[in-house]
Amino acid sequence: MSSAVALRVVDTHHDLVIQPPAGGISLQGRIRIPGDKSISHRALMLGALAQGETIVQGLLLGEDPRSTASCFRAMGAEISELNTEEVRVRGIGLGNLNEPVTVLDAGNSGTTLRLMLGILASHPDRFFTVTGDGSLRSRPMSRVVKPLQQMGAQIWGRKQNSLAPLAIQGQALKPIHYQSPIASAQVKSCILLAGLMTEGQTTVTEPALSRDHSERMLRAFGADLTVDPETNSVTITGQATLTGQMVIVPGDISSAAFWLVAGAIVPGSDLTIENVGINPTRTGVLAILERMGADITIENSREVAGEPVADLRVRHSRLKACEISGDVIPRLIDEIPILAVAAVFAEGTTIVKDAEELRVKESDRITVMATQLNQMGASIKELPDGMEITGGTALRGTEVDSFTDHRIAMSLAIAALNASGITTIHRAEAAAISYPDFTNTLEQSIR
Ligand code: S3P
Repeated sequence: MSSAVALRVVDTHHDLVIQPPAGGISLQGRIRIPGDKSISHRALMLGALAQGETIVQGLLLGEDPRSTASCFRAMGAEISELNTEEVRVRGIGLGNLNEPVTVLDAGNSGTTLRLMLGILASHPDRFFTVTGDGSLRSRPMSRVVKPLQQMGAQIWGRKQNSLAPLAIQGQALKPIHYQSPIASAQVKSCILLAGLMTEGQTTVTEPALSRDHSERMLRAFGADLTVDPETNSVTITGQATLTGQMVIVPGDISSAAFWLVAGAIVPGSDLTIENVGINPTRTGVLAILERMGADITIENSREVAGEPVADLRVRHSRLKACEISGDVIPRLIDEIPILAVAAVFAEGTTIVKDAEELRVKESDRITVMATQLNQMGASIKELPDGMEITGGTALRGTEVDSFTDHRIAMSLAIAALNASGITTIHRAEAAAISYPDFTNTLEQSIR
């Protein structure tokens, strides 16, 4: 695919080549983004565990939800062909998953694997084996294995049961109150899903509030769940019946973030991103971009199927550095790679702290963003738990690599829009994990 008078975007499926013309480009128009990844996984999983039919509109058609769908199909849930209009999930009822005859493969998806572990460990009398791709097999699973073991789960794997492939002998668990050392929605959701099948009350307390899509959707499906916002605790009372629902998936703010930053840094831009989920546990990126001086307006705010949604308009403006740390981190954890790009074009030094979690994402996002952007001429110093980014250095195109991480691939593509010369992003096909249409949307918004 090659196009554009204004910009040369060549997507060979492995390399993405971006060459802005000397005269510059701008981004204009209205963009629709793909469905929210977190909500898409949960809709498929809860749909599979519910009684009756769940209808999902706006599902993300990325590789990650496809992994979730294939795992739950292998355990007996009937899930129609995935599409954005309407996916039908015929659930088989809580506790009724079939023992799969082969290994469940979560692909690249940490959410699939970690949430599924809570479901599998609490399914008595079934044996499961789970694995993932090279990236997922190197990511820590002890954060969910340990609390599940406290509930009585039997799980085995490499490195003291901390790395996939994992084997699980499902059984009846006992409820616990788990004080999570990290603010992680994957950990919280895994324990809540195990608690769903467990008699009694299971509570998770986290140090800062992570995304609450599981809480919202579990409630909508009929689970008995209470939230204590004072202590960031959620309690689920086990063995309620889930009933199939209609789920309307909003656009993913983590995907919108690429366009928010692109619109903010590329001179002359004026973009509107439609139908973006603005759940307050996800809007850290808006708060930080606003502090950096970005010109973003929230239009047409509404509530769709239990999640707040709006259109976001961004216009180019001068950005200034800021500190990104503390309780905002879980509210923008997936957006830090693209915020690093914004910081490169901001005046002053941006500090990212308290974000050591980035080291165990699909890649080590601190090292990868620092090395790849520095190769383009940025000035980024790695910190153990973040980065120090000195803005205002001009970027030049060169060869960079996604390290097979979808968010790195797309962040580097946005950086390339403001770089001189040709940027070649190797292994850019990784974008399909969460945003298969990314290159097309980029081409369509360029003027
Ligand atoms: C997710 C939670 C986050 C996030 C991931 C999706 C979820 O991970 O990074 O992309 O859907 O629960 P952690 O919970 O590990 O921070």
